[in-house]
Amino acid sequence: MANTERIPDGIHNAIDYEYRAPEVLGAQRFAYIAGGSGLDVTVAANRSAFGRWASVPRLLRDVRGGHSRLQLADMALPHPFVLAPVAHGLLAHSQAELATARAAEATGTCLVASTLSSRPLEVIAAAAGPARWFQLYLQPERAHTLDLLARAQAAGYRAIVLTLDASLQLPSRSALASGFVLPADCVAANLARYPQAPTPQPGEGQSRIFQGAMRHAPTWDDLRWLLSATHLPVWVKGVLHAEDARQLKAAGVAGIVVSNHGGRGLDGSPASLSMLPAVRAAVGKGYPVLMDGGVRSGHDAFKALALGANAVLIGRLQLYALAVAGALGVAHLLQLLTEELHATMAQAGCATLSDITPEALLPC
Ligand SMILES: Cc1cc2nc3c(=O)[nH]c(=O)nc-3n(C[C@H](O)[C@H](O)[C@H](O)COP(=O)(O)O)c2cc1C
Repeated sequence: MANTERIPDGIHNAIDYEYRAPEVLGAQRFAYIAGGSGLDVTVAANRSAFGRWASVPRLLRDVRGGHSRLQLADMALPHPFVLAPVAHGLLAHSQAELATARAAEATGTCLVASTLSSRPLEVIAAAAGPARWFQLYLQPERAHTLDLLARAQAAGYRAIVLTLDASLQLPSRSALASGFVLPADCVAANLARYPQAPTPQPGEGQSRIFQGAMRHAPTWDDLRWLLSATHLPVWVKGVLHAEDARQLKAAGVAGIVVSNHGGRGLDGSPASLSMLPAVRAAVGKGYPVLMDGGVRSGHDAFKALALGANAVLIGRLQLYALAVAGALGVAHLLQLLTEELHATMAQAGCATLSDITPEALLPC
């Protein structure tokens, strides 16, 4: 794979990075990143959900003072795009998350560093701007989780994003059919110091799922433990059900991310966008709700904001831009997304993010 450090001709829209990525990534890596799980039903649902809404232009509104600034938790941000946690940045670029962190720093963007990043969280923190969160997968040993928390706090991450929808990740048929296997150099740098016990073979009458893959899956007890184990605000990523959202808020979670892991969790689960209005209704107006899954343009983000999100996370597009043009590509992607959002806002008569309400959309 040959990464370049210049923006190729022909990248006019954010989604152009997706169209360009297969050339750079090659068929197998692209299949792994683009795929979800199972038959990719939810990957497709995430995208098609945006097509069921139209944005209605409004006339004669003065938007000359317009901007897309927002306050998200303790961060003043220039736009509502957050770089989602994505594992194994080395698959996309030789500088991996270091390049992404530089782009975040240059554009004032909030970055969420993955537990499974190719570069250690300390290295990412040193290159990223102050707007940085750490995405946590609970480790089988609580001592290891505590160590990760201490490292994240020491490295200046401002919040923990606990991902709960990926205890079981069954690779997609499309990725399997491509023959993709994780290269040997693609290791989770953060976890190198924590010895992992091999997965035991299920005993007689035991399930490979219940007693196997799910044996360390987090429970409500684990969440309560985590909330008591750190002073950092804890967000939860992977929420789709309104009742889960209500209970997480009541448990003391700082905010939630409506997400189905980009279709990489339960295949056949609903699109994130489809569940967003019910989740917003369940937690009320002032509670922070982010959303991801299928966002490929600033116009998509506009729809998510109208349906109740405070900001959106960008997953695959981030990896595609990283692969195509490194740090420059990710910074350019964020600029394109922001301009696309501004263009939609201006035409819909919304000068600020708070002007974007459900009335801006019509089902179609
Ligand atoms: C290749 C890949 C790796 C991912 N790794 C992680 C991860 O380590 N932690 C996590 O919470 N989510 C992970 N995700 C999910 C993203 O954070 C995000 O929820 C999803 O990509 C959003 O959908 P989108 O790709 O359509 O934008 C990953 C997604 C992809 C495609």
